[in-house]
Formats: sequence, structure tokens, C-alpha cells
Amino acid sequence: MKLFLDTANVDQVAEIAAWGVLDGVTTNPSLVAKEGKDFKETVMKMCELVPCVSAQVTATEFEGMKKQAEEYHGWHKHVVVKVPMTIEGLKTLHYCREKKIRTNCTLVFSANQALLAAKAGASIISPFIGRLDDAGQDGMALIAEIMQIWSYYDFDTEVLVASTRHPRHIVEAAELGAHISTIPYEVFKRLPHHPLTDSGLKKFMEDWENVKK
Ligand code: E4P
Repeated sequence: MKLFLDTANVDQVAEIAAWGVLDGVTTNPSLVAKEGKDFKETVMKMCELVPCVSAQVTATEFEGMKKQAEEYHGWHKHVVVKVPMTIEGLKTLHYCREKKIRTNCTLVFSANQALLAAKAGASIISPFIGRLDDAGQDGMALIAEIMQIWSYYDFDTEVLVASTRHPRHIVEAAELGAHISTIPYEVFKRLPHHPLTDSGLKKFMEDWENVKK
């Protein structure tokens, strides 16, 4: 499973990329607004660190989405154009597939939306599991449903588990065979740690002090 960082902070991307485990980044307008930096510059810097950076269109009509998709695509070959799951978005996904522009269909909350996005030609679909959990639904059940559907057909659309909230989400996404998980920085930083690793290493170091050299 590929691991993406869900952030618009370049320093965070550089830090996690240095671990050798990072396959990409997902940004969105809210994350970009939070950082308060120039969007294009942020995306370009990230593209130098990882091979796949999602940059979201902000137009809501096909013509505007299409224009932004072409513009972002021209920035760097690592850009993946993020398109919201709307009817206008479906038209944009189809257009981008024809033009060989990679896309990530965002704000997917149902299996029917996933199916339509894949048929329209999305390279990636992003079901938001945490937001479904927040709304009292079972987000991971949607991933299970989508992965089951995917097992019957030969879609080349990757399923990206988005809106993850804690480390178990990443394990469960992998158990279901999801292709990608995007992970917030705070959650990513918790993944390498286990208290038994810390106490085990402490004991090894203490015992090593007693080895005659
Ligand atoms: C994915 O591409 C989105 O940026 C993200 O996962 C949304 O997460 P949130 O629900 O925590 O805002």
C-alpha cells in the first residue's frame, strides 16, 4: 500500500520523505489556507520531494475545472489534479483521462460515487472515512464495499483511503487491500513508535554498558 501525507506543509513532507516511506502528498484548499503560503510554489516544492502531489481545482463548472486541470498539469509531471465528485467533476475526469492528465476524485462518500468516478476515468478515488465516522456511519465499511466491487472488475483506478484519523485506520486500509492511505502529519509521526520498542532499546543500551570492551 502506498503511503501519502495529507498536508500543505512542505517541511512536513521533507521530514517524512527522508524516512524513505513516502509515496505522495494530498493537499486540499483547507490545508493550503491553513499554511497561508503560495499554492503553486508549495506544490512545486513538494513535487521535488515525492512523485505524486494532489492539487485541487477550485472552479465548480466544467470549463473552469478543465482550465485549472490543464494549468496544474503543466506545473510539474508529479502533479495529480484533484477534482471534486460532482457531475461537473465527472466531465472533468473524463476530459483529463482523454488528455492523459492524472486525477484524484475527492469527496467520495458512497460506492456509487466511487463507481462513477472510476468509469469517468479517475486515476485515484478518495473516499473520506473519518468524515463518515464523524457523521455516525462506518467509514471503513465503505472501503470494504468499494474493494469488493473492485475485485470483480479491472478498473485501473486506485482507491485512496482519505480522512484517516488514527494509526488503526492505516492497518485496516491495508487489510482491505486499499491501494493508498493518506495520513495527517500527527498520525504519521505516531506510526514508527511502540512502547515495547522504546523499553526494549533502553534495556539493550543499559546492558551494553556492562559489556567488557
Ligand atoms: C484527502 O485528500 C483530504 O485532504 C483529507 O484526507 C481530508 O481529511 P479531513 O476529513 O481530516 O479534513
